[in-house]
Amino acid sequence: MSPSVLEAPGAQTRVEIHPLPGSFAAEVVGLDLSRPLADDDFRRIHRAHLDHHVLVFRDQRITPEQQVAFSRRFGELQIHVLHQFHLKGHPEILIVSNIVENGQPVGLGDAGHFWHSDLSYKEVPSLGSMLLAQELPEEGGDTLFADQHAAWIALPPALKQRVRGLRAEHSYLARYEELRERSPWRPKLSDEQVAQVVPVVQPVVRTHPETARLGLFVSEHFTTRIVGLPDDESRTLLAELFAYGTRPELQYRHHWQPHDMVFWDNRSVTHLAAGCPEHMRRRLHRTTIEGDRPY
Ligand code: SIN
Repeated sequence: MSPSVLEAPGAQTRVEIHPLPGSFAAEVVGLDLSRPLADDDFRRIHRAHLDHHVLVFRDQRITPEQQVAFSRRFGELQIHVLHQFHLKGHPEILIVSNIVENGQPVGLGDAGHFWHSDLSYKEVPSLGSMLLAQELPEEGGDTLFADQHAAWIALPPALKQRVRGLRAEHSYLARYEELRERSPWRPKLSDEQVAQVVPVVQPVVRTHPETARLGLFVSEHFTTRIVGLPDDESRTLLAELFAYGTRPELQYRHHWQPHDMVFWDNRSVTHLAAGCPEHMRRRLHRTTIEGDRPY
Protein backbone atom coordinates (compact mmCIF):
# COMPACT_ATOMS: atom_id res chain seq x y z
CA MET A 1 0.00 0.00 0.00
CA SER A 2 1.37 3.46 -0.83
CA PRO A 3 1.09 6.32 1.64
CA SER A 4 -2.11 8.30 1.31
CA VAL A 5 -1.57 12.06 1.22
CA LEU A 6 -4.39 13.84 2.95
CA GLU A 7 -4.92 17.54 2.60
CA ALA A 8 -8.05 19.48 3.25
CA PRO A 9 -9.04 23.11 3.66
CA GLY A 10 -8.95 24.00 7.32
CA ALA A 11 -6.55 21.20 8.18
CA GLN A 12 -3.52 22.53 10.03
CA THR A 13 -1.09 20.16 8.51
CA ARG A 14 -0.41 17.82 5.68
CA VAL A 15 -1.03 14.37 7.06
CA GLU A 16 0.26 11.12 5.59
CA ILE A 17 -0.65 7.64 6.74
CA HIS A 18 2.24 5.22 6.11
CA PRO A 19 1.34 1.57 6.64
CA LEU A 20 4.20 -0.08 8.52
CA PRO A 21 5.71 -2.80 6.32
CA GLY A 22 4.54 -6.32 7.07
CA SER A 23 2.00 -5.20 9.65
CA PHE A 24 -1.49 -3.85 10.13
CA ALA A 25 -0.18 -0.78 12.04
CA ALA A 26 0.60 2.59 10.45
CA GLU A 27 2.68 5.66 11.12
CA VAL A 28 1.05 9.09 10.98
CA VAL A 29 3.42 11.63 9.49
CA GLY A 30 3.02 15.39 9.50
CA LEU A 31 0.84 15.92 12.54
CA ASP A 32 2.02 17.98 15.50
CA LEU A 33 -0.09 16.91 18.47
CA SER A 34 0.87 20.00 20.45
CA ARG A 35 -1.45 22.00 18.19
CA PRO A 36 -5.24 21.84 18.27
CA LEU A 37 -6.51 19.18 15.87
CA ALA A 38 -8.47 20.50 12.89
CA ASP A 39 -11.71 18.62 12.21
CA ASP A 40 -10.44 17.33 8.85
CA ASP A 41 -7.31 15.93 10.49
CA PHE A 42 -9.42 14.41 13.25
CA ARG A 43 -11.60 12.62 10.68
CA ARG A 44 -8.55 11.20 8.90
CA ILE A 45 -6.89 10.03 12.09
CA HIS A 46 -10.16 8.47 13.17
CA ARG A 47 -10.46 6.63 9.83
CA ALA A 48 -6.82 5.48 9.94
CA HIS A 49 -7.31 4.25 13.52
CA LEU A 50 -10.24 2.08 12.41
CA ASP A 51 -8.31 0.77 9.41
CA HIS A 52 -4.93 0.12 11.05
CA HIS A 53 -5.83 -0.44 14.75
CA VAL A 54 -2.42 0.88 15.90
CA LEU A 55 -1.18 4.36 14.96
CA VAL A 56 2.32 5.63 15.68
CA PHE A 57 3.02 9.37 15.93
CA ARG A 58 6.76 10.12 16.08
CA ASP A 59 8.57 12.81 18.01
CA GLN A 60 5.60 14.25 19.92
CA ARG A 61 7.05 16.57 22.57
CA ILE A 62 3.71 17.28 24.15
CA THR A 63 2.59 18.20 27.65
CA PRO A 64 0.16 16.15 29.77
CA GLU A 65 -2.51 18.78 29.00
CA GLN A 66 -1.93 18.29 25.27
CA GLN A 67 -2.06 14.51 25.57
CA VAL A 68 -5.34 14.78 27.48
CA ALA A 69 -6.77 17.28 24.95
CA PHE A 70 -5.87 15.06 21.98
CA SER A 71 -7.24 11.94 23.72
CA ARG A 72 -10.51 13.74 24.55
CA ARG A 73 -11.20 14.32 20.87
CA PHE A 74 -12.03 10.60 20.70
CA GLY A 75 -14.27 10.37 23.79
CA GLU A 76 -14.51 10.60 27.56
CA LEU A 77 -11.38 9.55 29.42
CA GLN A 78 -11.40 6.71 31.92
CA ILE A 79 -9.72 7.01 35.29
CA HIS A 80 -7.59 3.99 36.26
CA VAL A 81 -8.44 2.29 39.54
CA LEU A 82 -4.79 2.52 40.72
CA HIS A 83 -4.98 6.18 41.80
CA GLN A 84 -1.51 5.67 43.35
CA PHE A 85 -0.06 5.93 39.83
CA HIS A 86 -2.04 8.85 38.42
CA LEU A 87 0.13 11.68 37.21
CA LYS A 88 -0.09 14.46 39.81
CA GLY A 89 -2.80 16.92 38.78
CA HIS A 90 -3.85 14.67 35.87
CA PRO A 91 -5.95 11.73 37.06
CA GLU A 92 -6.66 10.86 33.40
CA ILE A 93 -3.00 9.87 32.98
CA LEU A 94 -1.67 6.57 34.33
CA ILE A 95 2.10 6.43 34.75
CA VAL A 96 3.49 3.17 33.35
CA SER A 97 7.00 2.91 34.74
CA ASN A 98 9.49 0.63 36.47
CA ILE A 99 11.29 3.59 38.10
CA VAL A 100 11.57 3.65 41.88
CA GLU A 101 12.32 7.02 43.53
CA ASN A 102 13.05 7.37 47.25
CA GLY A 103 11.99 3.77 47.69
CA GLN A 104 8.61 4.42 46.04
CA PRO A 105 7.51 3.21 42.58
CA VAL A 106 6.53 6.19 40.43
CA GLY A 107 4.20 4.13 38.25
CA LEU A 108 2.77 0.75 37.44
CA GLY A 109 5.92 -1.19 36.60
CA ASP A 110 4.39 -4.43 35.44
CA ALA A 111 1.50 -3.02 33.40
CA GLY A 112 0.76 -5.23 30.44
CA HIS A 113 2.80 -8.28 31.43
CA PHE A 114 -0.01 -10.54 30.18
CA TRP A 115 -1.89 -10.08 26.90
CA HIS A 116 -5.01 -7.96 27.40
CA SER A 117 -7.38 -5.33 26.06
CA ASP A 118 -7.44 -2.29 28.36
CA LEU A 119 -10.30 -2.14 30.85
CA SER A 120 -12.11 -5.20 29.41
CA TYR A 121 -12.98 -5.80 33.08
CA LYS A 122 -15.32 -2.76 33.07
CA GLU A 123 -18.90 -2.97 31.81
CA VAL A 124 -17.94 -0.24 29.37
CA PRO A 125 -14.36 -1.02 28.37
CA SER A 126 -11.94 1.16 26.50
CA LEU A 127 -12.23 2.35 22.90
CA GLY A 128 -8.52 2.95 22.69
CA SER A 129 -5.43 3.93 24.64
CA MET A 130 -2.65 6.42 23.97
CA LEU A 131 0.81 5.75 25.35
CA LEU A 132 3.42 8.48 25.22
CA ALA A 133 7.10 7.66 25.70
CA GLN A 134 8.85 9.76 28.38
CA GLU A 135 11.96 7.73 29.16
CA LEU A 136 13.05 4.57 27.34
CA PRO A 137 15.46 1.75 28.18
CA GLU A 138 18.46 1.13 25.91
CA GLU A 139 17.38 -2.48 25.62
CA GLY A 140 13.94 -4.07 25.34
CA GLY A 141 10.76 -2.33 26.43
CA ASP A 142 8.84 -3.15 23.23
CA THR A 143 5.05 -3.37 23.13
CA LEU A 144 3.39 -6.13 21.09
CA PHE A 145 -0.06 -5.87 19.53
CA ALA A 146 -2.17 -8.77 18.17
CA ASP A 147 -4.96 -8.26 15.62
CA GLN A 148 -8.11 -9.87 17.01
CA HIS A 149 -10.11 -9.52 13.77
CA ALA A 150 -7.46 -11.55 11.94
CA ALA A 151 -7.50 -14.02 14.86
CA TRP A 152 -11.24 -14.47 14.41
CA ILE A 153 -10.98 -14.90 10.64
CA ALA A 154 -8.25 -17.55 11.01
CA LEU A 155 -10.09 -19.58 13.64
CA PRO A 156 -11.03 -23.11 12.43
CA PRO A 157 -14.73 -23.18 11.39
CA ALA A 158 -15.69 -25.70 14.11
CA LEU A 159 -14.13 -23.51 16.80
CA LYS A 160 -15.85 -20.44 15.36
CA GLN A 161 -19.17 -22.17 15.59
CA ARG A 162 -18.46 -23.32 19.13
CA VAL A 163 -17.55 -19.93 20.57
CA ARG A 164 -19.98 -17.63 18.79
CA GLY A 165 -22.63 -16.58 21.29
CA LEU A 166 -20.55 -17.62 24.32
CA ARG A 167 -19.87 -15.14 27.11
CA ALA A 168 -16.92 -14.91 29.46
CA GLU A 169 -16.16 -13.30 32.78
CA HIS A 170 -13.45 -10.60 32.98
CA SER A 171 -11.94 -9.53 36.27
CA TYR A 172 -9.30 -6.96 37.14
CA LEU A 173 -8.49 -9.09 40.17
CA ALA A 174 -7.88 -12.27 38.13
CA ARG A 175 -4.09 -12.08 38.36
CA TYR A 176 -3.65 -9.23 40.80
CA GLU A 177 -2.29 -11.25 43.72
CA GLU A 178 -0.03 -13.30 41.42
CA LEU A 179 1.45 -10.04 40.12
CA ARG A 180 1.79 -8.67 43.66
CA GLU A 181 3.83 -11.68 44.65
CA ARG A 182 6.27 -10.93 41.85
CA SER A 183 6.17 -7.14 42.28
CA PRO A 184 5.72 -6.47 45.99
CA TRP A 185 5.43 -2.73 45.40
CA ARG A 186 2.11 -3.27 43.59
CA PRO A 187 -0.30 -1.65 46.07
CA LYS A 188 -2.77 -3.63 48.11
CA LEU A 189 -6.20 -2.55 46.88
CA SER A 190 -8.53 -0.76 49.30
CA ASP A 191 -12.14 -1.93 49.69
CA GLU A 192 -13.15 1.11 47.66
CA GLN A 193 -10.83 0.09 44.81
CA VAL A 194 -12.09 -3.51 44.89
CA ALA A 195 -15.66 -2.18 44.68
CA GLN A 196 -14.73 -0.33 41.48
CA VAL A 197 -13.67 -3.53 39.70
CA VAL A 198 -16.45 -6.06 40.20
CA PRO A 199 -16.21 -8.82 37.55
CA VAL A 200 -18.24 -8.36 34.38
CA VAL A 201 -19.41 -10.66 31.59
CA GLN A 202 -18.46 -9.90 27.98
CA PRO A 203 -19.09 -11.65 24.66
CA VAL A 204 -16.25 -13.97 23.60
CA VAL A 205 -16.63 -12.68 20.05
CA ARG A 206 -17.22 -8.98 19.83
CA THR A 207 -18.62 -6.82 17.01
CA HIS A 208 -16.60 -3.64 16.49
CA PRO A 209 -19.20 -0.88 16.99
CA GLU A 210 -17.82 1.31 14.19
CA THR A 211 -16.69 -1.17 11.52
CA ALA A 212 -18.98 -4.12 12.35
CA ARG A 213 -15.97 -6.44 12.11
CA LEU A 214 -15.94 -9.45 14.43
CA GLY A 215 -13.00 -10.04 16.74
CA LEU A 216 -12.00 -12.27 19.66
CA PHE A 217 -12.49 -10.49 22.98
CA VAL A 218 -10.77 -12.69 25.60
CA SER A 219 -7.36 -12.26 27.20
CA GLU A 220 -4.99 -14.16 29.44
CA HIS A 221 -4.81 -11.21 31.86
CA PHE A 222 -8.44 -10.56 32.60
CA THR A 223 -10.66 -13.41 31.29
CA THR A 224 -11.34 -15.90 34.06
CA ARG A 225 -13.97 -18.34 32.73
CA ILE A 226 -16.53 -19.02 30.05
CA VAL A 227 -20.00 -18.67 31.49
CA GLY A 228 -21.99 -21.91 31.62
CA LEU A 229 -19.10 -24.32 30.94
CA PRO A 230 -17.60 -26.71 33.50
CA ASP A 231 -14.28 -25.35 34.88
CA ASP A 232 -11.96 -27.76 33.05
CA GLU A 233 -13.76 -27.27 29.73
CA SER A 234 -13.70 -23.50 30.19
CA ARG A 235 -9.96 -23.51 31.00
CA THR A 236 -9.14 -25.67 27.97
CA LEU A 237 -11.24 -23.56 25.61
CA LEU A 238 -9.78 -20.30 26.91
CA ALA A 239 -6.22 -21.63 26.58
CA GLU A 240 -7.00 -22.56 22.98
CA LEU A 241 -8.43 -19.11 22.23
CA PHE A 242 -5.49 -17.31 23.92
CA ALA A 243 -3.08 -19.36 21.79
CA TYR A 244 -4.98 -18.55 18.57
CA GLY A 245 -5.29 -14.89 19.48
CA THR A 246 -1.59 -14.29 20.07
CA ARG A 247 0.06 -16.18 17.20
CA PRO A 248 3.18 -14.39 15.89
CA GLU A 249 1.67 -13.79 12.45
CA LEU A 250 -1.06 -11.64 14.06
CA GLN A 251 1.42 -9.38 15.81
CA TYR A 252 2.94 -5.96 15.34
CA ARG A 253 5.93 -5.33 17.61
CA HIS A 254 6.49 -1.69 18.47
CA HIS A 255 10.05 -0.72 19.20
CA TRP A 256 9.81 2.64 20.93
CA GLN A 257 11.66 5.73 19.78
CA PRO A 258 12.00 8.87 21.92
CA HIS A 259 8.73 10.85 22.16
CA ASP A 260 6.66 8.25 20.30
CA MET A 261 2.94 8.38 20.92
CA VAL A 262 1.09 5.16 20.10
CA PHE A 263 -2.71 5.09 19.84
CA TRP A 264 -4.34 1.65 19.62
CA ASP A 265 -7.89 0.33 19.30
CA ASN A 266 -8.75 -1.91 22.27
CA ARG A 267 -11.75 -3.25 20.33
CA SER A 268 -9.45 -4.62 17.61
CA VAL A 269 -6.17 -5.60 19.27
CA THR A 270 -4.79 -7.05 22.46
CA HIS A 271 -1.36 -5.97 23.68
CA LEU A 272 1.56 -7.06 25.81
CA ALA A 273 4.55 -5.25 27.34
CA ALA A 274 7.63 -7.32 26.45
CA GLY A 275 9.61 -6.03 29.46
CA CYS A 276 13.13 -4.66 29.80
CA PRO A 277 16.14 -5.29 32.07
CA GLU A 278 15.14 -4.30 35.59
CA HIS A 279 17.94 -1.81 36.08
CA MET A 280 16.96 0.22 32.99
CA ARG A 281 14.49 3.06 33.39
CA ARG A 282 11.24 3.07 31.41
CA ARG A 283 8.42 5.58 31.76
CA LEU A 284 5.35 6.21 29.60
CA HIS A 285 2.09 8.11 30.14
CA ARG A 286 -1.19 6.40 29.27
CA THR A 287 -4.63 7.86 28.62
CA THR A 288 -7.61 5.55 28.09
CA ILE A 289 -10.71 6.55 26.12
CA GLU A 290 -14.09 5.13 27.04
CA GLY A 291 -15.78 2.96 24.41
CA ASP A 292 -19.11 1.14 24.17
CA ARG A 293 -20.72 -1.80 25.92
CA PRO A 294 -19.50 -4.83 23.91
CA TYR A 295 -21.99 -6.92 21.87
C1 SIN B 1 -0.16 -1.26 28.95
O1 SIN B 1 -0.52 -2.45 29.03
O2 SIN B 1 -0.98 -0.37 28.83
C2 SIN B 1 1.33 -0.92 28.98
C3 SIN B 1 2.04 -1.40 27.79
C4 SIN B 1 3.52 -1.13 27.86
O3 SIN B 1 4.04 -0.72 28.91
O4 SIN B 1 4.22 -1.37 26.87
